[in-house]
Amino acid sequence: MLSQKQLIDFKNITKTYVTGPVKYQALKGVSFSINKGEFVSIMGPSGSGKSTVMNIMGALDTSTTGEYLLKNKNISNYDNDELAEIRNQEIGFVFQSFNLLPRTTVMENVKRPMMYAHFDKNKRDERALEKLRLVGLEDKVGNLSNHLSGGQIQRVAIARSLVMNPSIILADEPTGNLDSKTAAEIMGTLVELNQQGVTVIVITHEEEIAGFSKRVIKLKDGLISSDKKVRRK
Ligand SMILES: Nc1ncnc2c1ncn2[C@@H]1O[C@H](COP(=O)(O)OP(=O)(O)OP(=O)(O)O)[C@@H](O)[C@H]1O
Ligand SMILES: [Mg+2]
Repeated sequence: MLSQKQLIDFKNITKTYVTGPVKYQALKGVSFSINKGEFVSIMGPSGSGKSTVMNIMGALDTSTTGEYLLKNKNISNYDNDELAEIRNQEIGFVFQSFNLLPRTTVMENVKRPMMYAHFDKNKRDERALEKLRLVGLEDKVGNLSNHLSGGQIQRVAIARSLVMNPSIILADEPTGNLDSKTAAEIMGTLVELNQQGVTVIVITHEEEIAGFSKRVIKLKDGLISSDKKVRRK
């Protein structure tokens, strides 16, 4: 039976990448579901399929076979426009590949997703400020994005991921380039957001970082090798 609280449902998802004559099956049948309000870490060795899972979850890519239900809607066969709409409305991304625009203010960076969504122009400043306050950066709104520390850059990325009030935050190695103290601060911010009801899914290589979550899904060679609840430290 479908639970109303179920947000993400992966049903036997496979992904085969085709590069010229070469085919590579990165996901070999992955099934799990994630409920509203969870805080999940995805772990596993390099090449095990973590980013592939994240890209499908985030509607940045589609599976080769299997079904992906997001809020009980099967989005596996959505076209590019429909996927873009889903991304904009439902998902906040904190990916290293989606860096801030250089030489552009913190405020402009955070407001950008609202521009794409044609969000009411008069409410953009207020909404961006609300999210910057949430990550403790209201005093940096006028800074250029290249005049910030690494941790502050990640916090701007988190504020930006939140402006459309998404139901899910997906973060691929959000603390990858940060020292351990700053990394703990970023994870603290994600824990606070989770306590306010946002579902958070984080890819990490580090047990320390996974320790902030409530559940750890481990991947190995394109399959789930374990899926366990953990006690948050
Ligand atoms: N666009 C692509 N075309 C072809 N192969 C790909 C593509 N993207 C990923 N792969 C392959 O699929 C496998 C899984 O890649 P994925 O990026 O999901 O791994 P990962 O677990 O995120 O690894 P890492 O920890 O290094 O980021 C790898 O063997 C990778 O080389
Ligand atoms: Mg990856």
